[in-house]
Amino acid sequence: MKTIPGPRGLEVLATILRFQRDPLTTLSDLTNRFGDIVRYRYGPFSVVLLNHPEAVQRILQDNHLNYGKKNSPFYKMMRHFLGDGLVTSDGDFWRRQRRLAQPAFSRKRLEALAPLMVQCTADMLEEWRKLPAGAVLNVADEMMKLTLRIVGLALFSLDVSAETQAVAHCLEVLQGQMTQRFQSFLPLPPVLPTARDRLFRESRRQLDEIAQKIVTERRAQSNRPQDLLTALLEARDPETGESMSDRQLCDELITFLLAGHETTANAMAWTFYLLSLHPDQRRRLEEEVGTTRAPSAEDLAQLPLSERVVQESMRLYPPVWVYGRISSAPDEFLGHRIGKNQIVTVAPYVLHRNPAIWPNPEGFDPDRFLLERPKGSYVPFAHGPRVCIGNHFAMMEARLLLVTIAAQVRLNLQAGARISTEALVSLRPRGGLPMTLEWR
Ligand code: HEM
Repeated sequence: MKTIPGPRGLEVLATILRFQRDPLTTLSDLTNRFGDIVRYRYGPFSVVLLNHPEAVQRILQDNHLNYGKKNSPFYKMMRHFLGDGLVTSDGDFWRRQRRLAQPAFSRKRLEALAPLMVQCTADMLEEWRKLPAGAVLNVADEMMKLTLRIVGLALFSLDVSAETQAVAHCLEVLQGQMTQRFQSFLPLPPVLPTARDRLFRESRRQLDEIAQKIVTERRAQSNRPQDLLTALLEARDPETGESMSDRQLCDELITFLLAGHETTANAMAWTFYLLSLHPDQRRRLEEEVGTTRAPSAEDLAQLPLSERVVQESMRLYPPVWVYGRISSAPDEFLGHRIGKNQIVTVAPYVLHRNPAIWPNPEGFDPDRFLLERPKGSYVPFAHGPRVCIGNHFAMMEARLLLVTIAAQVRLNLQAGARISTEALVSLRPRGGLPMTLEWR
């Protein structure tokens, strides 16, 4: 067995400091220097980064039982922010919650949501049409508002438009703080009497209050809509007959609101950014889209380029740019031994640019998705049993939004704007995405 390579001596500290400033470049440089399996330090933790499809496939699918979330310090930290919802829970509790939530994501249910997604987009475009010629729009913000509204309506039959500002602000504070804590040497829970911790607790309290109001109103409703919230609320544990507590329901609600809008919004923002940089690809997409102003779920089968464009955008800018697991027993792969309690991470941002898998990795070429690729090489939604439960929801939503918008308007990056990445829990364009509108 080979020793897992990585920085040594003073370089260890230098890597930690660089990671805090620029995690994406730091991880890319580590794989360039040390290869597809690298050990580095993240504050007090030893972390192994996997940049090889076989290794990714091993931890997410083939030997997934050995790689959970429960004892991972990162998910423990996330629990302070999101509670014990589907993203952060593990073991039997996670399995039960996943089983209960799964029917809300069946193909039939999803297809029925298409008109809602298109209508919300049409409402947004109507607002855009009122803007003066030459106006500059922050498209990243617009996508956040749009996808938050969609996920609220689709999963909870709830138009959060009125509360959008408050919900978005709270989620923003939580996400910002979660990132800061991940990037600090010692990720402390937000329990101190400092201004920062107080702001955190206040944001979490406000979100809880909104979530609790939604749950209370739904409990009191006799004619409940058949959505995710009702499914969770009416579910009974097959062994104990118990139903979910309000606390659990609120945790799931907040988890789904955050996981279900932020990621898709960023995927959309990066897609429009890339299309504006690549007018040739945009022209091809516009030709495919034609004047399809209100696409249905079935129409998407006739619009295959829209899928490849979204896939390629998430290859270059995966909204969840890193995620991890922790081993519960030793394992071996690629000639290396992984010890017990070892944190292992996958950084789709780095893996999706691995030149051994992706020729011309920095290029924007949607047609590369016409070719086969090894398992474990493209994982924007993760893979295996803990694959994103919303992956089909998100792909359908992203394509419907893209087609509806592209049929009506061309989004151009504001002249002179330079966009860089901001790696929070999800990957955003730093400072937003200023674009101008060119109606078609
Ligand atoms: C482009 C959009 C999206 C991307 C890239 C994305 C990505 C991911 C990834 C990578 C994970 C695994 C995280 C981990 O292992 O820690 C995940 C999990 C999850 N996602 Fe998504 N997601 C997207 C959209 C959505 C949507 C629309 C929803 C809900 C409507 C959603 C809900 C969830 C939930 C609940 C989990 C936890 C699943 C479990 O562990 O059982 N996501 N997502």
